[in-house]
Amino acid sequence: MRTAIIGTGVIGASWASTFLARGLEVVATDPAPGAEATLRATIAAQWPSMVSMGLAPGADPARLRFVPTPEEAVCDADIVQENAPERLDVKRELFARLDAAAPPAALLISSTSTITVSEFQGACAHHPERVLLGHPFNPPHLIPLVEVAGGAQTSPEAIDRALAFYRGIGKHPIHLKKEVRGHVANRLQAALWQEAFNLVQAGVASVADIDAAIAHGPGLRWALLGPFLNLHLSGGPGGIGALFEKPLWAATEAMWRDLGTVHVDPALGTTVAQGVAAELAAHDRDTMVQQRDATLLALLRLKAAATELP
Ligand SMILES: NC(=O)c1ccc[n+]([C@@H]2O[C@H](COP(=O)([O-])OP(=O)(O)OC[C@H]3O[C@@H](n4cnc5c(N)ncnc54)[C@H](O)[C@@H]3O)[C@@H](O)[C@H]2O)c1
Repeated sequence: MRTAIIGTGVIGASWASTFLARGLEVVATDPAPGAEATLRATIAAQWPSMVSMGLAPGADPARLRFVPTPEEAVCDADIVQENAPERLDVKRELFARLDAAAPPAALLISSTSTITVSEFQGACAHHPERVLLGHPFNPPHLIPLVEVAGGAQTSPEAIDRALAFYRGIGKHPIHLKKEVRGHVANRLQAALWQEAFNLVQAGVASVADIDAAIAHGPGLRWALLGPFLNLHLSGGPGGIGALFEKPLWAATEAMWRDLGTVHVDPALGTTVAQGVAAELAAHDRDTMVQQRDATLLALLRLKAAATELP
């Protein structure tokens, strides 16, 4: 399986580590000066995490080749993962070039966070049916989720192949049956952030306490089961179905109508930034990041061994 990485910034470099750790060949390109050296240094820094997660036979950072143009990167590729800047004009121009240069059977996959495939797929004159979304969650070399979605012209076969590819490299892909701005996971995060900012603005709790409300509360279970299964297991013997008949459910829906919509104006931005600085004052930032990543790796290992956690 030959893969191409187009754009080797934060996300492209992390995909490169992921593919190399699964024993795949990677051909990468990025127009930034010094991009190859930066990419190789980033992969070297991420490699201990890849080792700790387990390498596939043949996994080797030396299987990375860096080339000057997107055309050279994709000319022999089976899978192309695009990670260029988040601008529609850049994606349209790039996908037209990738489509012209890649073998007809290659999948052309974009990591885009906010642009829909239908917005740039039309720039592909040859095989728009193999253009689709494969949106990772940062950092892609650690987080299993990949959101897969087609545009108006994407074939069901391309979607199936992308889902199978991501599953095959140990990712957890989900299929979005419709295109929606921001996809699924970021929209769920956005809903939570909106209320977190609203609670700070309303003076309900400090930034540190709102962080604690998730990190020491529901966030612990959300790492194990999603919102619906958590609700089902909290619903008593009748589960989620019975829950909707209980008075607590009407109160929950009443709470939805009470949630705030908020704009982060300079005053609110300063309050939140000062709150975060106060939280960090008691901790060493570098050690915090190290411990976060080590704990995440341990959690991923535990989850992989827990066969009945979907
Ligand atoms: N950062 C995130 O958390 C995140 C998460 C998921 C998806 N994404 C998506 O991934 C993509 C890349 O985001 P990023 O955060 O890695 O950005 P980034 O700025 O770190 O990297 C973009 C890279 O693209 C390169 N580039 C510029 N023009 C190019 C071109 N014509 N062809 C190829 N490469 C080109 C740049 O030199 C740079 O290295 C975006 O579409 C973004 O929406 C980002």
